[in-house]
Amino acid sequence: MRKPIIAANWKMNKLTSEAMDLAREVRNKVGTIADREIVLCPPFTVLSSVKGVIEDSSIKLGAQNMHWEIRGAYTGEVSSVMLKDIGCNYVILGHSERRRYFGETNETVNKKARIAFSTGLIPIVCVGERLQEREKGETLRIIEEQVKTGLSGLTREQGKGLVVAYEPVWAIGTGKTAMPDQAEEVQRFIRKLLGQMFGEENAQAIRILYGGSINPGNISALMSCENVDGGLVGGASLNVESFVKIVHY
Ligand code: PGA
Repeated sequence: MRKPIIAANWKMNKLTSEAMDLAREVRNKVGTIADREIVLCPPFTVLSSVKGVIEDSSIKLGAQNMHWEIRGAYTGEVSSVMLKDIGCNYVILGHSERRRYFGETNETVNKKARIAFSTGLIPIVCVGERLQEREKGETLRIIEEQVKTGLSGLTREQGKGLVVAYEPVWAIGTGKTAMPDQAEEVQRFIRKLLGQMFGEENAQAIRILYGGSINPGNISALMSCENVDGGLVGGASLNVESFVKIVHY
């Protein structure tokens, strides 16, 4: 019922020619797939170049961040209308690296999510607990706070179109993936919260991705979970072979 999404988060990697080569290879291998959505999220500098490569395919374009204002005196920032203008469909918001290194909070994620929707971008809102929080048994409390604050004020209709990514911070870039039952437990909880916020029926339509050390060897087990509707892939998306294998989970 929910169309799976495999999203590639290239983070701060790839110069123009490398990005175009990788996008071209991905397009040639999986650019006509229709039963799942593929989203490439390259750095700002190569969004346009990648867009040119994937234009006539089914692959979608996403950015990794944006500002919460449409325009103005915000040196160094990029807005939602600018992303829309160059052909983005999606934007990742609240990634744990932005929370950790750049002061992103649930409140700024919320402002960004609202403006993304009003601009016609679909936010991929990331949530996830840190290792200490999991060890202290605080995982669900942290997730609840991130979901409720990060997504507050969105309409039911917007909520329905949302994408959420559960990325336990201890699993990102560490090679430690959450066990499928750990991912399922949290993602089921997230869907329950979304049901309270946006209505049960709408919550059933929301794609909830898992992210954190996804690779060709662990994707199938994760995708077999009822509430895992796709993956947000970091490291393994930088290599065409591993990314294509993940797409074909
Ligand atoms: P990883 O990154 O796959 O390299 O763990 C995932 C992410 O940060 O989105």
